[in-house]
Amino acid sequence: LRPTSTLASVLDAFRRCIEIDPTHARAHYQYGYMLYITGHTAEAADVFRQWLTFDAANPVPRHMLAACSGEDVPARAADDYVKRTFDDFAESFDEVLLEKLDYHAPDLLAARLRADLGTAQATRIIVDAGCGTGLCGPWLKPYAQRLIGIDLSPGMLRKADARGDYDKLYEAELTRFLATYPAAFDVIVSADTLCYFGALEEFAAAARRSLKAGGWLGFTVERLDDDNPEPYRIRPHGRYAHRGDYVQATLAAAGFSGLSLEPGVLRMELSHPVQGWVVRARVGDA
Ligand SMILES: C[S@@+](CC[C@H](N)C(=O)[O-])C[C@H]1O[C@@H](n2cnc3c(N)ncnc32)[C@H](O)[C@@H]1O
Repeated sequence: LRPTSTLASVLDAFRRCIEIDPTHARAHYQYGYMLYITGHTAEAADVFRQWLTFDAANPVPRHMLAACSGEDVPARAADDYVKRTFDDFAESFDEVLLEKLDYHAPDLLAARLRADLGTAQATRIIVDAGCGTGLCGPWLKPYAQRLIGIDLSPGMLRKADARGDYDKLYEAELTRFLATYPAAFDVIVSADTLCYFGALEEFAAAARRSLKAGGWLGFTVERLDDDNPEPYRIRPHGRYAHRGDYVQATLAAAGFSGLSLEPGVLRMELSHPVQGWVVRARVGDA
């Protein structure tokens, strides 16, 4: 079989599976996935739309329909979508990201922020916002008097807990968490998590509020080219990408200074590098 006929036969098998069992959620997921990764985005949207007809409360087809159709795109991925997606992914996350996708977001942030933070002294209160399985824990720990991890997914938090670097882990939405603690933290780090956010204003305001004077914010986002008409865009795989000038303007409007955006490859996706921004910003001394 040629590669094209293999793909055609796989798509055909999923289509027939759905014909036989029109309420087979997993087959809809796989069929929709195969369609959008092969560029058939409108057809993928139809599959997710069809899935919603028998599974209306499921956040996965809701989010993926928005991602593939561009309709009713949420300001950020819904909490229940994030939770379900990452609970399902928690067991294999480290293996898939590190061994198959050449994942670098934590290293890129470490390289940039180590230079800002100077000699490692365990003096800072640090938040890892969207800590996942805790891949940033090992490099953050030497700087932390107290290292706090926040995540919506209990499955990911269990993995982070097992790693042993965090003093406290909270199952919480990170924007709401940060907004609750004014002037409490010295450093906030968020690796490969704000790609589940479109609008960044609320996050930027909450992060600014929760940092102490002189505090540092570091995060990665996926990169949207500057000539795009929108400041950010959801992509068919369900993550958002951001224009650099939007990120910069949003942080400045929230009151950050010392802004720095550097390009970097975050990881691979379908054999292509995912281009990102490594972003650092500071709260000026009071
Ligand atoms: C791709 S993983 C990255 C995890 C980790 N930072 C790393 O670099 O390995 C994204 C994580 O962000 C979490 N997440 C996404 N949106 C969130 C939100 N609004 N509040 C809290 N956690 C969120 C997900 O549950 C997931 O664990």
